[in-house]
Amino acid sequence: MQALPGFRDFLPSECSERNYVFANWRNVARRYGFVEWDGPVLESTELYRKKSGAEIVDQLFHFVDKGEREVAMRPELTPTLARVVAAHEREFKKPLKWFSIGQFFRYEKQQRGRLREHYQLNCDIIGEASLAADIELIALAIDLLRGFGLRESDFVVRISDRQFWTEFLRDQGVAEDKWQEILGIIDKSERELADHTAQKLGPLAGSVTEVLAKGGENDRLREVMDGLRARGLGGFVNTDVRIVRGLAYYTGIVFEVFDRAGKLRAIAGGGRYDNLVSQLSDGAASLPALGFAMGDVVLAELIGETASAREQMESTITAERAIQVYIVIAKEERRGDALQQVQTLRDHGFGVDYPLVPMKVGKQFQTAEQLGARSALVFGDEWPNVAVKDLRSGEQKLVGHEDLLSDLQESLTKE
Ligand code: HAM
Repeated sequence: MQALPGFRDFLPSECSERNYVFANWRNVARRYGFVEWDGPVLESTELYRKKSGAEIVDQLFHFVDKGEREVAMRPELTPTLARVVAAHEREFKKPLKWFSIGQFFRYEKQQRGRLREHYQLNCDIIGEASLAADIELIALAIDLLRGFGLRESDFVVRISDRQFWTEFLRDQGVAEDKWQEILGIIDKSERELADHTAQKLGPLAGSVTEVLAKGGENDRLREVMDGLRARGLGGFVNTDVRIVRGLAYYTGIVFEVFDRAGKLRAIAGGGRYDNLVSQLSDGAASLPALGFAMGDVVLAELIGETASAREQMESTITAERAIQVYIVIAKEERRGDALQQVQTLRDHGFGVDYPLVPMKVGKQFQTAEQLGARSALVFGDEWPNVAVKDLRSGEQKLVGHEDLLSDLQESLTKE
C-alpha cells in the first residue's frame, strides 16, 4: 500500500525540513506584528463555489457527510478568513494582521511543484485600504524568503494590478460576467502557446497582446514600486501585468513570487480582495483586505537548488536534532544510578539519551556520536565518580555523580 497520488509521507528528515520552514515562517510573520489564527479543514462546499472561482471548484475534494451536508476539504484559506472576519468584525481593532500555517487540498494533476496536498503560510491584513498595506505585505513576502537565506538573485516578486485589467475590459465593452473567464485566459497565457491563447481570447486577442507588450504601468503600481525601493527592496520586484491571479476575488494590486531562473511554479501569490468580506456577510461587514499565501512545495525545491539556503537549513536542522548528553552504561550494576541521572538531567531541560538494553561500550559511543551528543557520561568502574567525555575535543575528566548537573550546566551552556 502506498500513499495516494499527490499525498506525502513525512519521514523524520522531511518532518525536520517542514518544521524548519514553519519555524522561519512564524518567526518572520511575528517580526512584522502578525498574530496566528486557524480555521477548520472542512468547510461547506458552497463557500468555495461562491468565492474561489471555477478553477478551484473543479479541484475540490468534496463529499456529502452523514448529515447530508455538501462539504469540501479546504483548497485555500481566504474564503474561511473572510467568513470568520465577517462574523467577528466588531471584536477586533483594525487593521487585523493575521497569519496561519496549515494544510490544503486540491485535486490537481500531479506535477513538479503541484501536489494534491500542500502546506501554506497565509498572511492577511484586514481593514486597511491604503497602498501602504500592499507595500507592507509585499515586503513581508520578500523578508520571509530572505529568512531562508534566499537572495535577489534567487527569486523575484512580479507585481500587477487586477483593477488595471478590469478597467481595460470595461473600456473594451466586455460584459462583467465574462471578465473572470478572460482574466483566467490571461493568467494562463504564459504557460500556453500564443496561438492557443489568441484563439481563446477571440476579438480581444489584438488589444490584450498590445497591452502585454507595452507593460501597462500606472500610478498605483508606481506607488507600490517606489515604496518598496524606499525600503531597499527594489531589487526583489518587477511590475508585470501578465500576472492577474487565477482566483476570482482579487480587486487591486496582485503579485506572485517566482524563482529568478523561471524554472519552477509560483512560490507565493496574493493580492487585494476588497469586496470579499462584504460579499460573505451580505454587506453587513465591509472591510478592505489583502493577503498572500506561500506554499511549502516549491519553496522546498528552491531551497534545495540554492546552495546557501540549503546549507542554512541543514545546519539548523542538525543543531536542533542533536541531543546534548549520552549516558554510557559501562557496567549494568550502574543502570539504576544512570537512569536517575537521565531523569534529573531531562528535568533540567537537557536532551538526554541512553541504551535501553545492555550494549557494548564502543557501540554506545558510536550512538552518542550519531545522535550529535556533546557529552558522554560513563557510568562504570569509577563510581561514585562518573567519567565525563567532551565528544568534540575528546577530553575526559572524572566528576562526582552529585556534581554532574552543575558541571554540565556550566560546560554546555557556555557556548
Ligand atoms: P494560490 O496562488 O492559489 O493562492 O496559492 C498560493 C501558493 O500555494 C502557490 O503560489 C503555491 O506555492 C502553493 N500551492 C497552491 N496550490 C498548490 C498545489 N496543488 N501544490 C503545491 N503547492 C500549491 C491562494 O491560495 C490564495 N488564497 C492566497 C491568498 C491569501 N490571497 C489572499 N490571501
